[in-house]
Amino acid sequence: MRGVPGGRLTPCVLVPAVLLLAGCGGDQNALAPKSHQARDIASLFWWMMAGAWIGLAVVVALLLLSWKRAGRRGVGDDDEGSKPGERTGWYVVIGGGIVVPIVLLVALFAVSNLFVIRTTQAPAAGSTRLTVLVIGHQWWWEIRYPGSDAVTANEIHIPVRTPVRLEVRTDDVIHSFWVPQLNRKIDTLPGETNAIELYADAAGRYRGECAEFCGLQHAHMGLYVFAEPRARFERWLADQAKPAAEPSGSLAAQGRDAFMNGTCSSCHAIRGTSANGNAGPDLTHLADRTTIAALRLPNTPQRLRDWIGDPQRYKPGNEMPSVHIPPDELRALVAYLRGLR
Ligand code: CUA
Repeated sequence: MRGVPGGRLTPCVLVPAVLLLAGCGGDQNALAPKSHQARDIASLFWWMMAGAWIGLAVVVALLLLSWKRAGRRGVGDDDEGSKPGERTGWYVVIGGGIVVPIVLLVALFAVSNLFVIRTTQAPAAGSTRLTVLVIGHQWWWEIRYPGSDAVTANEIHIPVRTPVRLEVRTDDVIHSFWVPQLNRKIDTLPGETNAIELYADAAGRYRGECAEFCGLQHAHMGLYVFAEPRARFERWLADQAKPAAEPSGSLAAQGRDAFMNGTCSSCHAIRGTSANGNAGPDLTHLADRTTIAALRLPNTPQRLRDWIGDPQRYKPGNEMPSVHIPPDELRALVAYLRGLR
């Protein structure tokens, strides 16, 4: 019989498909750690994996052994009296069924408890150089830097190789802040402040995600952590703390008037202007961000226009209503917002 055409191809397709479905690879890979905490979590994963495979191998070996023995003895001739191998059988049951699992589970518990939970718990007071406060909203992340006026959304900047205390809160429901390459998940609980350390070994952009179902747009609640050299981070933070730039040009000035007089200013703040709403992200330095709507869209003029024109199309259920804005006004609004550097 001839093989199925492309039969050799099957593993080539199946293996990546399985890895993809298991969430391996991509830019949110917990198995490509970029901090000491994430490395501990990844090694715990491999220890657990090894333990599970050893356990499975032992069980399968015992199963095969008993199968082989039963085959040798023949089925049905083992009903009466005690057999020569019975005592050994009990030892196997007690050893393999009770002693081995207890030893294995206690060892794994010790590894996770002594090393991983300890290194990933809230940092001790005074052990960090900077605090970043993240507040979960349906469905975006508000980011504040205590001690500075800087307020931004969805894109956190931190200095590289510097321990940062990350405090999380929520404005509404439970969310879970998770940047797999940097640390574990941390839930945002109503009325509570939780903390972990955020640390990055190397400069770069790390993608994160809300890891707790929080409503319709849970899947569109992404975030970035940008780890940068210290001097660059300091410059960024100083810029973010400044009030908004004045509009340059008449179109942008029209846009500012439309923003302040329309509904935008009742939900969004732009520091240095009369807009001080707090239902949506602070837009003081919107143009410095690479994305909008919690990573839903890239922050380009076209996408910004699409978003303001019909936010419900891109994130149905979000709090920003799709209102009809005349094309001229939309163009002016985009010109103003693009100038907010
Ligand atoms: Cu926020 Cu899921």
